[in-house]
Amino acid sequence: MKIRDSDVFLVTYPKSGTVWSQQILSLIFNEGHRNGTENIDNMTRVPWIEYNIHNMDFSSRPSPRLFSTHLPYYLMPRDLRFRTGKIIYVCRNPKDVMVSFYHFYKLNPRIKHTINWEKFIDLYMSGKVLGGSWFNHVRGWYTHKEDFSILFMTYEEMKKDLRSAVQKICKFVDINLNEEAIDTVVEKATFKNMKQDPLANYKFLSYDLLDQSKGEFLRKGIVGDWKNTMTVAQSENFDKVYKEKIGDLPIKIVWHS
Ligand code: PPS
Repeated sequence: MKIRDSDVFLVTYPKSGTVWSQQILSLIFNEGHRNGTENIDNMTRVPWIEYNIHNMDFSSRPSPRLFSTHLPYYLMPRDLRFRTGKIIYVCRNPKDVMVSFYHFYKLNPRIKHTINWEKFIDLYMSGKVLGGSWFNHVRGWYTHKEDFSILFMTYEEMKKDLRSAVQKICKFVDINLNEEAIDTVVEKATFKNMKQDPLANYKFLSYDLLDQSKGEFLRKGIVGDWKNTMTVAQSENFDKVYKEKIGDLPIKIVWHS
């Protein structure tokens, strides 16, 4: 894939705030929706490179192009390694990711959801879920960050102060929005508003792709939901594995709101 200087890639491990960040990015690039993009769904505005379900011809898309991906660093288009194009990596605390993922599995008709929570924990910890191992994904991207032009963000910082997060992204992608446009981006990217916006919450997808009669894609959108699901023993075991697999990296995970 030929990369342009103006390309921006949103990279996430699944369930880390991808759709939220797609919404923010596309609003930033369209000044809070002044360019008639309000009737276009997120997946079209910020398409996935690995699930190109609309069969788009990416090479004919006008610049600046926005893309999403869950890919590990080593599968990314090669040009990005030469700091052509920009990457925004959004990381979420892995316990909340695991809970969100468990619920997401129920919505995905292509996955036979006979898996109970205990079994899902095992699959997730061993990386046998869609997108592979959270630990490998984060480790890979974090330790290769110097190879790319990259901004690391966290779901939790976006939750804590969405306005500052939007400003940080604007600065990174060199877009100057006035205060009013920033307010609009923030307003349209709140959990409450996205939940009511069918183009931002995947309501436009058919049931065979995402069955939202089994639960909502925009489920809770909070930090620390793992505490409502994991037992103390499960959480302690997770902490042990976390320490073994990724404890050597200076990543600051926010576990609670
Ligand atoms: S996917 O399937 O990988 O693309 O899923 P992803 O979009 O990465 O993650 C879904 C979770 O992000 C939450 N979400 C939000 N949280 C806060 N604010 C906003 N605006 C928002 N939009 C989406 C969504 O609710 C999922 O998290 P959980 O914990 O399941 O609610």
